[in-house]
Amino acid sequence: MTAILTVDGLSAGYGQTTVLRDVTFSVGRGEVACVMGRNGAGKTTLLKVLMGVLPMTGTVRLLGGDVSGWPGHRINRAGVVWVPQEDAVFPGLTVREHLVIALNRSCGGSPTSSGLSRRRNGGCIDEGIEAATALFPVLGERLGQEAQTLSGGERKMLGLAQALIVKPKVVLMDEPTEGVAPVVVEQLIPAIAAVAGEAALVLVEHNIDTALALGSQAYILEQGSIVESGSVGELYDRGVLEQRLAL
Ligand SMILES: Nc1ncnc2c1ncn2[C@@H]1O[C@H](COP(=O)(O)OP(=O)(O)OP(=O)(O)O)[C@@H](O)[C@H]1O
Ligand SMILES: [Mg+2]
Repeated sequence: MTAILTVDGLSAGYGQTTVLRDVTFSVGRGEVACVMGRNGAGKTTLLKVLMGVLPMTGTVRLLGGDVSGWPGHRINRAGVVWVPQEDAVFPGLTVREHLVIALNRSCGGSPTSSGLSRRRNGGCIDEGIEAATALFPVLGERLGQEAQTLSGGERKMLGLAQALIVKPKVVLMDEPTEGVAPVVVEQLIPAIAAVAGEAALVLVEHNIDTALALGSQAYILEQGSIVESGSVGELYDRGVLEQRLAL
């Protein structure tokens, strides 16, 4: 399988404090790399580095090209999207406005575009909104509602939809099912799996059931280093997940 994202000997931290040490892994198209580990292990820090918002040493390659140390906006333009753990919606904007903001860049066009390119741009945006509502039908019923009127689960769906409808190459997801009701998790999992079919997904996940449902490979972080790796199923069968993730 062709690796979409390759991380080699990555170290990073905050100021003088080193958090990640010599992290190496790769993810191919259609693969879900589950990054697992206890609180404070460095999982979110790893995603921040991959999104280009923290300095690092080591090498990060995207489709074979070296993107190490690129700033966030270049990484994002190269097709890497981040779904943060916390709620990232704007309370006063509607669901449709959130989707249009996400789609604007990937659909091209600008306020000064010609009439023809504006029409193409509009078609692309309509397609993106259709894709979002196919992924999460409830969002289709809420297109005109402000985000502040959505439930927590619906906000999660909106955050995921924003990232997923732009046809990213790499998706970095931070605990998408954390604090979400089981009935919503049941809706999120197939949507995440559908997107992972097209992209390479780095999924930070605490929940062993979600990792088993979605993950290809698992990488266990402890104090910023990968201490175990293998297929999620194999690590589960060997009792490694339970042992390493127990509080
Ligand atoms: N902005 C920051 N400045 C300094 N240290 C930080 C900062 N953010 C995180 N850290 C430290 O980096 C380490 C890793 O934190 P990180 O948030 O990456 O952990 P995590 O694995 O995502 O944990 P959790 O499961 O609780 O989300 C912790 O020791 C944390 O205190
Ligand atoms: Mg975290």
